[in-house]
Amino acid sequence: MTAEVRHLSNSGKVLRFVNEDRLYPVNQYQSLVLATASELAAHGVAARTGTPLAELAAWEPCCGGGPTAISLKSMGIGYVQATDINDDSVAACIANARNNDVELDRVERADLLADGGNRQFDLISCNPPCGADAAGPASMSPQIRTAVEGGETGIELTMRLLEQVAPRLSEHGSLIFVAVSTSDIYGLRNSLDARFPGKWRTFPSTPVAAPYRRTDDADASWLVDQTVGFEPLVWRRDDGWYWRLSWIIEVSRGLPSGAYSAFTLCPYGLEVSRDPGLAELIGRCSDDGLSLR
Ligand SMILES: C[S@@+](CC[C@H](N)C(=O)[O-])C[C@H]1O[C@@H](n2cnc3c(N)ncnc32)[C@H](O)[C@@H]1O
Repeated sequence: MTAEVRHLSNSGKVLRFVNEDRLYPVNQYQSLVLATASELAAHGVAARTGTPLAELAAWEPCCGGGPTAISLKSMGIGYVQATDINDDSVAACIANARNNDVELDRVERADLLADGGNRQFDLISCNPPCGADAAGPASMSPQIRTAVEGGETGIELTMRLLEQVAPRLSEHGSLIFVAVSTSDIYGLRNSLDARFPGKWRTFPSTPVAAPYRRTDDADASWLVDQTVGFEPLVWRRDDGWYWRLSWIIEVSRGLPSGAYSAFTLCPYGLEVSRDPGLAELIGRCSDDGLSLR
């Protein structure tokens, strides 16, 4: 079965993405939030450097159906490439680009940033697999498992990205990526602070709250401990779902020094930021009521 997701891009065009059951779906909680953040970040790089969009270069590694790459090319970024380790994702990205009358400059199979080149990019935008090993039900297909499992704590692939990215960014370039509250975000924060002190931030208007797993799903029982631990990272709502947060993180040498480097709380979307139980949890965990330090 296939379903279509629509995205109102920064170019003013409505882009359409086809989701096949067996592949990770382009969705409004991560993929399209990343696409929008990347569009805004591209304007930021263009404005900071006085460079026309048509002279910028962008890359979506771990592209899946290619929502960010296609959005960026559609808004006029000059060179855009997309890569994924899974041949079927590469094919889905090519098909989505064609269906939207967008021609990406390069779409290929590659393991993370190993694209066989050394080109530098103004924007590298990535929604990496970021589930922990325990996250998936046994019945999950191998392709979906590759798309969601980021390693033992969920951030191993993201850590590889942070280790490898610097030489692939232009002088004012940004890395934009998705992080989720079901992975080891404390470890991620420590690594960001160590590698990019004062040069990372959570993107404005994130985190976004998203329904994650059904509370009656036996494979989701590991989530219970996080809610009773009073961490506002995963919580149970009376709609029968565990909810979690997705942040977009920007890392850039071009950010003003002292960019606000902390994981913001207070999620956007679906009235969830007004959830009284959640507000109480955030108050208990945060020095300033806004962010995890
Ligand atoms: C969470 S999905 C994101 C897909 C798409 N960017 C989106 O946001 O809709 C992660 C994608 O990363 C790919 N992937 C997993 N491990 C990878 C690796 N080592 N190198 C490149 N791609 C990888 C998966 O095949 C999957 O398409």
